[in-house]
Amino acid sequence: MASLVSSWSSDLKCLPDNYVLPEGKRPGMPVPVSNDIPVIDLGDGLDYSRADMVQQIAKAGQDFGLFQVINHGVSKELMADAMNVSKEFFGMSTEEKAQYYIDSVALEEKAGCRLYTSSGYFLAQGFDFWKDTLQHPCHPLQNHINSWPDKPKNYREVMGPYTTQVRKVAMKIMDMIYQGLGLEADDTEKEFDNYNLAFSINHYPACPDPALALGCCRHSDPAILTLLQQEVYGLQLEKDGHWIGVKPLPDAFVVNIGLLLEVISNGKLKGAVHRAVTNSACSRNSLVTFVGCPTDVTIKPAAALISPTNPPLYRAFNNKDFHEFVFANNAEFEAVIAYLKLKT
Ligand code: OGA
Ligand code: NI
Repeated sequence: MASLVSSWSSDLKCLPDNYVLPEGKRPGMPVPVSNDIPVIDLGDGLDYSRADMVQQIAKAGQDFGLFQVINHGVSKELMADAMNVSKEFFGMSTEEKAQYYIDSVALEEKAGCRLYTSSGYFLAQGFDFWKDTLQHPCHPLQNHINSWPDKPKNYREVMGPYTTQVRKVAMKIMDMIYQGLGLEADDTEKEFDNYNLAFSINHYPACPDPALALGCCRHSDPAILTLLQQEVYGLQLEKDGHWIGVKPLPDAFVVNIGLLLEVISNGKLKGAVHRAVTNSACSRNSLVTFVGCPTDVTIKPAAALISPTNPPLYRAFNNKDFHEFVFANNAEFEAVIAYLKLKT
């Protein structure tokens, strides 16, 4: 258990060598937050129509691959409770967390609930990331909730409704994304039921040298859509070859397009390339809900988006094979993109 960053990092003055990234991968100078990233109001009774909302989402998905949503329907109280429970979880003693911990060797085999450190890829890549993660599946809730932590004592009581409601927001957004792409709502709705949901709590302890370490590597999520809640800054988006900071907005979800949706949309929507930096002042938790496809389905560009003038840019692949590839390649962005794209 010595390996969870949160179990040994407090009061540390110097960054251990295995967290010092190779030169090209370091975050370097701080990146300011950007006011350009779209913030989309999903509230009822707005002075613009659903069609406008669909357009805003489509444009944000194309231009940024990432946007924030407000008035999404998850209550402020539930969001605050979820953030607090996540802090209580990581605030527990090392001994209490030990029962959930799994080392990087066993990580690949273990589905279900797991607590791990770094990216879980250390053996292959030779360096570590400054983060601990608790992750578990969520949908359908009754199939999974009993595998979730039972400490803190209200963990399941809070995270059950939280993940269920975040899923509803995700489905609403997906519906509008599919509409924006011109794909049939009827067909997709049936499939939405099969979409799975994974929930992660990322915990980034205060870091003695944020310029040399990263909390989370440069990557694009191997999912359909990701919804993230944060209160401390740390998430950055790569846009036109530069990093820009995603501003923590109270009560907002950061929504980012995942690689599966990039493929399904045949590149109309961009999977957001992002990373998480650390800071020396305080720890940071992010609550991340990933909407994914069932493991054994074939993912490919939607037939309705393909024509002689719009040939497929991505190949058809099995989702399970894809996830195995991502894991085997340390989520290396270039390798993952090369796996998905058809050679032109
Ligand atoms: C992730 C991720 C960013 C963050 O978990 O996939 O990108 O800010 N997290 O925690
Ligand atoms: Ni991510």
